[in-house]
Amino acid sequence: MQSIIKIQGVSKTYASGFTALKSVDLEIRRGEIFALLGPNGAGKTTLISIICGIVNASSGRVLADGVDIVDDYRQARSLIGLVPQELTTDAFESVWDTVSFSRGLFGKPADPDYIEKVLRQLSLWDKRHSKMLALSGGMKRRVMIAKALSHEPRILFLDEPTAGVDVELRRDMWEMVRGLREDGVTVILTTHYIEEAEEMADRIGVINRGELVLVEDKAELIQKLGQKQLHLHLQTPLTELPPSLKPFNLVLSEEGTQLTYTFDAHQETSGIADLLRGLSELNIDLKDLQSKQSSLEEIFVSLVHRPES
Ligand SMILES: Nc1ncnc2c1ncn2[C@@H]1O[C@H](COP(=O)(O)OP(=O)(O)O)[C@@H](O)[C@H]1O
Ligand SMILES: [Mg+2]
Repeated sequence: MQSIIKIQGVSKTYASGFTALKSVDLEIRRGEIFALLGPNGAGKTTLISIICGIVNASSGRVLADGVDIVDDYRQARSLIGLVPQELTTDAFESVWDTVSFSRGLFGKPADPDYIEKVLRQLSLWDKRHSKMLALSGGMKRRVMIAKALSHEPRILFLDEPTAGVDVELRRDMWEMVRGLREDGVTVILTTHYIEEAEEMADRIGVINRGELVLVEDKAELIQKLGQKQLHLHLQTPLTELPPSLKPFNLVLSEEGTQLTYTFDAHQETSGIADLLRGLSELNIDLKDLQSKQSSLEEIFVSLVHRPES
């Protein structure tokens, strides 16, 4: 598939001397929802800010739909909408004026019908005459999204869109993002909420300490790195692990009623058949058994909490 954003060897060292990005290479596919996942301070906002032309890269380059974001700044910027992490709005403007004005900034002719559509989609229509200062935090965030969409961008960046927002707005936002994808808009969101990446994204990039440590299809990521656990609930508690079961690296629960077997879901043989045979030979009866796939959260934690290298 053709990529809509190409990030090539992008590094960023701030004036303070701090290196926030280390030679990041990344391609975003046209029409996908891409989640950039990483802990606070990983470099997510820095990367987005570079693509949106707010921060200059120290090296490397970025193409947005084939356009160099530095050489052809205006053209690149007109393709892109950004909902920043921090809310910035003019308190005394009305919602309607704020959003319409933003469209004008990109040199697009006025289109009240389009603005109306956007405001309705975001449940802002009833508030169109309200001044920004009269809006709740959640409503302000909706206006930020409307602003970002005002010039009909083909690429939308959402920087921590749901940090601190209520459940309703989060749900509306996810619905809106899916709707945008149906219209062919490419959506890149940053988040440190794993559930958000898990729920929303087609692909996930994990960034940690300025380095992109992984980019994968979400499902493949969960599968590829996922370990499965098999929980065996025993009919009669064990006081210790029988020696013949040692090779399976089982964990015996404290009460002795449960054995946990961890295996790689991708290995040809899981070892489960051997394990069950072994248990049967020892006359250990099972009450129940369940298997569980690692969640993205467990994968993420294992990636991000690697010791400093
Ligand atoms: N203007 C700046 N000057 C110096 N350091 C900065 C600046 N902006 C961000 N940083 C540092 O760069 C790192 C990455 O920040 P940021 O991109 O905001 O991370 P994230 O969005 O993933 O939380 C952090 O350690 C942050 O303190
Ligand atoms: Mg950030």
